[in-house]
Amino acid sequence: MKKYTVAVVGIGLVGSEILKVLKQRNFPAERIKVLARRKRVEVIDGVEYEVEPTTIEAFDGVDIALFAGTEGAKGASQQFGWEAVKKGVLVIDNGQDYRMDPRVPLVVPEINADALKNHQGFIANPNCSTIQMVMAMAPLHKISRIKRVIVSTYQAVSGTGSGAVRELEQQIKDYVEGKDIKSEVYPHQIFSNLLPHIGSLKDEEYTGYYSEEIKMVKETHKIFGTEDIKVTATCVRVPVFNSHSETVNLEFENEVTVEQAKEALSNFPGVVVVDDPGNAVYPLPIDATGKDEVFVGRIRKDYSIPNALNMWVVSDNIRKGAALNAVQIAEKVIEMGLI
Ligand SMILES: NC(=O)c1ccc[n+]([C@@H]2O[C@H](COP(=O)([O-])OP(=O)(O)OC[C@H]3O[C@@H](n4cnc5c(N)ncnc54)[C@H](OP(=O)(O)O)[C@@H]3O)[C@@H](O)[C@H]2O)c1
Repeated sequence: MKKYTVAVVGIGLVGSEILKVLKQRNFPAERIKVLARRKRVEVIDGVEYEVEPTTIEAFDGVDIALFAGTEGAKGASQQFGWEAVKKGVLVIDNGQDYRMDPRVPLVVPEINADALKNHQGFIANPNCSTIQMVMAMAPLHKISRIKRVIVSTYQAVSGTGSGAVRELEQQIKDYVEGKDIKSEVYPHQIFSNLLPHIGSLKDEEYTGYYSEEIKMVKETHKIFGTEDIKVTATCVRVPVFNSHSETVNLEFENEVTVEQAKEALSNFPGVVVVDDPGNAVYPLPIDATGKDEVFVGRIRKDYSIPNALNMWVVSDNIRKGAALNAVQIAEKVIEMGLI
């Protein structure tokens, strides 16, 4: 089997997890280069990596680059992504910068791997909250077309990056020690609180919505290849360290029974049904952390309108929501002979 030279760009929460996933899945890597802003040595999962500063020359000889650098003008993808493509590197990007770019496929391999066929060297990983929602929608959409989705998210601080994880830890410590609680990453204290605010306000298009909520709408349309699925989202940051949870209400064209939904979800790769509410069994962020699957429970009929279901969807935002999905895209590109 051919082996590839792989670069991982960024070694924060997502980049570190990508290194773990590559090792765990025995990815056919001949060599793994780790690039970030600062040169140093990092030990991830017992392996020592020489971290090099990211420069365009660092991509010489690289076949696949998994980008997990910060978003925006100062981030790795905007600075180096397309330049790396010009050097023949296949770029798989975790950030939001190019997800809606028409040149860029936005892929969840279990759902729309076909979109990879027309790739132009740059592929985007969807947002973490979108990935777990569409994984739970896809098998049901095959039974009956989904007309509308109402989603509320309960998103862990790891979704903001390592600085936010440190902020929650520090706030817990300061609370226990009776000290003043300081907030730098978030606009308010996150410990013992809920923030209905993820991303920035995008007034020009969807008045009153934060960008994470708009991502869930637009990315769902791009992944399913249709704007006919109406989506409305409220995204909330919660004081949970890791794994995002979502309440998802689905309205279908025709009736989908709870039994049909459970069967379809159970048979879909990457989805596990955990649903025994009588025994207090349902997906929990603590249980999902470190796992690859999207866990679905509390599957029940919505009695308020015809043809609707409610469910509770939990997944590790750093794994399926980011690192794992990115590595699965790379595996799929290889399997489909597209590199
Ligand atoms: N966390 C999630 O749940 C999640 C889910 C989906 C997507 N994402 C996306 O994945 C990306 C990484 O997120 P994260 O949570 O891992 O962030 P993080 O913990 O803050 O780490 C960011 C990493 O990016 C590196 N970096 C920043 N600017 C760079 C540049 N210009 N060139 C090279 N490296 C650069 C940093 O390098 P230094 O270490 O040298 O400072 C650091 O290693 C972001 O775009 C994020 O939106 C995150």
